[in-house]
Order: sequence, then C-alpha cells, then structure tokens
Amino acid sequence: MTVLTARRTRWGLAAAGGAAAAAWWFGDKAPYPYAQRGLLDIPLPYLTCGRLDEVLRPRPGERILEVGPGTGLQSLHVAPQLGPDGRLDVVDIQPEMLDHVTRRAKECGIDTITATESDARTLPFADDTFDAVYLVTALGEIPEPDRVLHEAARVLAPTGRLVVGEFFDRHWIPFGRLHGLADAAGLHLEERRGPTFAYLARFQPCPRPHPALTPA
Ligand SMILES: C[S@@+](CC[C@H](N)C(=O)[O-])C[C@H]1O[C@@H](n2cnc3c(N)ncnc32)[C@H](O)[C@@H]1O
Repeated sequence: MTVLTARRTRWGLAAAGGAAAAAWWFGDKAPYPYAQRGLLDIPLPYLTCGRLDEVLRPRPGERILEVGPGTGLQSLHVAPQLGPDGRLDVVDIQPEMLDHVTRRAKECGIDTITATESDARTLPFADDTFDAVYLVTALGEIPEPDRVLHEAARVLAPTGRLVVGEFFDRHWIPFGRLHGLADAAGLHLEERRGPTFAYLARFQPCPRPHPALTPA
C-alpha cells in the first residue's frame, strides 16, 4: 500500500466514524435508559426545581401533568405544592420510571401522584383536563415533538400553561426551534428563562375563536 492510499484509507475510516457518531448523536431516539437513572437526580444548571417553580407557578388545588418524569426529581417537588385537593399526573413510556416515582412518592408520604404508562404523542386524557403541563429534558427525547406539543395543547385548559425545559445534550431542542413548533401547535410564548442551551419556557394556548364567529 502506498503512503497516499494509506492516508486515503485513514481519512475514509475517520469520515465513516464521524458519520456514524453524528447519526447516533442526532438520530437515536431511544428513551433515557433506566440503568443510568442515578444521573437524573443531579439538578442541571438553569433547570433547578426552584427555577421550575418560578416559571410553572404551581398552585394548591391544581391538576398538573408531567410528561417524562424519569425518577421523579421534579414530580416529588411539584406534587406537594398542589396540596391535598390537587393532583399531579405523570406519564412515561417506561414503566420502570413510573414505578420508581411511585415508590419514592410513597416513601415521602405523597399520595397525590397518579402514574400512567403512555406515549406522550397520544395522551390518554380528555381535552381541557389540566391547569398546566410540563416536560423537563423530555421533549427532545421523544420522536415527533410537534405531536407532543399538539397533544399538550389539547389536554390543557384554555387558560392553562405549558412549561418546557431543555438542556444541551444530543436530544436538545434549541429555543428557536421550540418556539416555532409551539407556534404551530397554537401555543404562544409568555416567558423564557435561561440561555438557549439550558432554558425553561412557558407557553399559553392561543385564544380560541368564539363558536359564533367560526364559519359553518
Ligand atoms: C431524560 S429523562 C428526563 C427525566 C426528568 N424529567 C428529569 O429532568 O430528570 C426523559 C424521560 O422521558 C421519557 N420518555 C421518552 N420517550 C417518551 C415518550 N414517547 N412518551 C413518554 N415519555 C417518554 C423517558 O422514559 C424518561 O423518563
């Protein structure tokens, strides 16, 4: 093999390796592995529970939905704020995550969390069910985030709020992209905290036209 051929082969292998890594980085949409759950309990900069409170503003008596709770870092913080008359529904595609949240809630004496196994693209709830819906580092992991946003808008009460938290990793949705997807789902931006690589943003459903004003 000449020196030139050897160099070409090395460059070819490097390019193939780079393409494979890029395909994995951008293309893999498997849910977060339960085996790596320990990492989920480490609060992320800009996405702490305190920050979530500021943007989500949970209130006693509300019914809130969390999509993709993982091990329950945010669920165990939000549920007590809803009081005995409030309720936090958590939806996840992985039953192990839901069992984990339920177990931890029981240990903490929290009995207002209801866990439902479901894909966030087809939420098993009626229209206008929730005062708020939130997802922290979950939306980017779910294939077809546009469908998830449409579902969130559907299950939200007309005065409800949607909070999305995203952090830079291979599933991250840059803020500009989220803003466009939310617009298309009929959700308008109310507030955003944090830079594009680590933000929490709150949206509200756009006002629906009065039925009398809708052409037949
Ligand atoms: C990275 S974890 C985030 C967990 C938690 N919100 C946190 O910040 O620690 C993403 C979660 O989304 C869930 N998930 C992934 N795909 C989903 C889908 N299609 N429907 C519902 N949940 C999904 C995963 O099982 C996992 O619990």
